[in-house]
Amino acid sequence: MTKNLNLHYAFIGAGSMAAAMIEGLISHSVCTPDEIGCLSKHGERAASLSEKHKIKLLQELENPLENATTIVLALKPQQLGDLNPALVKATKDKLIISILAGKKLSRLKESFPESRNIVRVMPNTPSQIGAGMSAYCSLAQLTTSDQQSVDHLLAAMGSHLEVDESQMDIVTAISGSGPAYVFEFIAALRDGGINGGLEDAVASKLALETVLGAARLLARENVTPESLRDKVTSPNGTTMAALQTLEKRDFRALIGEAVESARLRSIEISKEA
Ligand SMILES: NC(=O)c1ccc[n+]([C@@H]2O[C@H](COP(=O)([O-])OP(=O)(O)OC[C@H]3O[C@@H](n4cnc5c(N)ncnc54)[C@H](OP(=O)(O)O)[C@@H]3O)[C@@H](O)[C@H]2O)c1
Repeated sequence: MTKNLNLHYAFIGAGSMAAAMIEGLISHSVCTPDEIGCLSKHGERAASLSEKHKIKLLQELENPLENATTIVLALKPQQLGDLNPALVKATKDKLIISILAGKKLSRLKESFPESRNIVRVMPNTPSQIGAGMSAYCSLAQLTTSDQQSVDHLLAAMGSHLEVDESQMDIVTAISGSGPAYVFEFIAALRDGGINGGLEDAVASKLALETVLGAARLLARENVTPESLRDKVTSPNGTTMAALQTLEKRDFRALIGEAVESARLRSIEISKEA
């Protein structure tokens, strides 16, 4: 049964992030379902992912990682120590791609000493709809084929770029936690509308579509946000009145402080991990 699997990606963990990546790999035709496998601690979530996408359920196999070229670690960071030692041993000579928040490459190497290379990725939640932004770094220089494995997996979740590991904490503070800041901004815009007399549903739609449209416009125009801001700001107009209020309350410094808090917390978490 294990002989003809020729798995490209074996997922350890079958939670929401694994599901998003597997969906992306299949919908982008990076690989066929039988070139993907997954397993989970109790087996139920892996079984349901396997049934949904027709991928291999690795739990059933004697040596589950035997035919995988790339192992994707998609369990919670605090679950790393619980991995079955036989599974850890089976990562010998494999490429490991970890999405575990806060787990440094050196720590991952301690866990998988015989792996051929390790990649650390910080994805974000829009990955679940193929609109993610991931940053990654690798322990050793990637070979051409390992680079392809990384590129294909991350492209299936959205955009990606390589950074130095020393930048992972600030990356976490920007793109990792960033979606939450945007959700908070949308909620604040919605509340502004409600306070101005709109119904919740109307204010929610206006706020969401405005952020979505503005982001898409910016992405398409490929200019700085400041230049688009200036284009819609007429002297003495409504937008200028709002921007002056933001400036008076030092909106940028506030966001900068929030990013710095996230960065410092990321450093702390990496030390705990
Ligand atoms: N969600 C995000 O936006 C986001 C962003 C950046 C990074 N991440 C990272 O993504 C990772 C996964 O997050 P998630 O939300 O997908 O987690 P999750 O839904 O909790 O799923 C974790 C999976 O790991 C499995 N697992 C746990 N211990 C295991 C073991 N010893 N052996 C084999 N499988 C084991 C679990 O098995 P059972 O199903 O049997 O419990 C479960 O299927 C985390 O490390 C997180 O830091 C997430």
